[in-house]
Amino acid sequence: MVEFAPSLLASDFSNLREEIKKIEKAEYLHLDVMDGHFVPNLTFGPKLISDLREYSDLKFDTHLMIDNPEKYIEIYAEAGSDLITIHEESSKHTHRLIQQIKDTGCKAGIALNPATPIDNLEYILPELDLVLIMSVNPGFGGQSFIPQILVKIERLATVIEKRGLDLKIAVDGGINDNNIIDVVRSGAEIIVAGSAIFKSSDPAGTIEKFRNKVNPEEIKKD
Ligand code: DX5
Ligand code: ZN
Repeated sequence: MVEFAPSLLASDFSNLREEIKKIEKAEYLHLDVMDGHFVPNLTFGPKLISDLREYSDLKFDTHLMIDNPEKYIEIYAEAGSDLITIHEESSKHTHRLIQQIKDTGCKAGIALNPATPIDNLEYILPELDLVLIMSVNPGFGGQSFIPQILVKIERLATVIEKRGLDLKIAVDGGINDNNIIDVVRSGAEIIVAGSAIFKSSDPAGTIEKFRNKVNPEEIKKD
């Protein structure tokens, strides 16, 4: 079953406690941490995550778009993350970092920028709980989905199946009503969406609509 991870980045930061209530029917809360170095934008840090932890039962999916992630893994785990994703491009030692994340008790993911091939993960795939395929260049919400990424999702899904691995494919960026079926058909199991959910007039209804749209029966019909 496809799961949903609304991205807090697209919510109203002046009203976060109310905003997260609107998405309580999702599975995850996607938390985009940006440091102004790895990506040209700044968002929030561990305090905001731990303050929100009290008000949500969702799994906290922390997407670290930061340099030197090894310095911050424990801090984001303690803040209340259930899953921590680092970028393949942010470290020369991703294998070590995955162990570091797992040692905190969190699930571990690796994100790939649009230009990074999935082959870079060949030898660490068995260690991962999740691969986050970026379908926009990281840094900002509200960008357009890069269509070539569909092939990348398909290729990764094929590799996972062939090797009999147990990990999920999440896709992040520019997902909306028009492309969500293609994204799921290609192999996405977790949909990260910011603008399409939080900027809609009814975020809870949008999650439900997306869920109905990508259930297996609907997907087969087209
Ligand atoms: C981009 C972030 C995304 C972003 C998605 O760097 O990683 O999670 O919030 O937002 P939309 O769905 O608006 O593209
Ligand atoms: Zn993200």
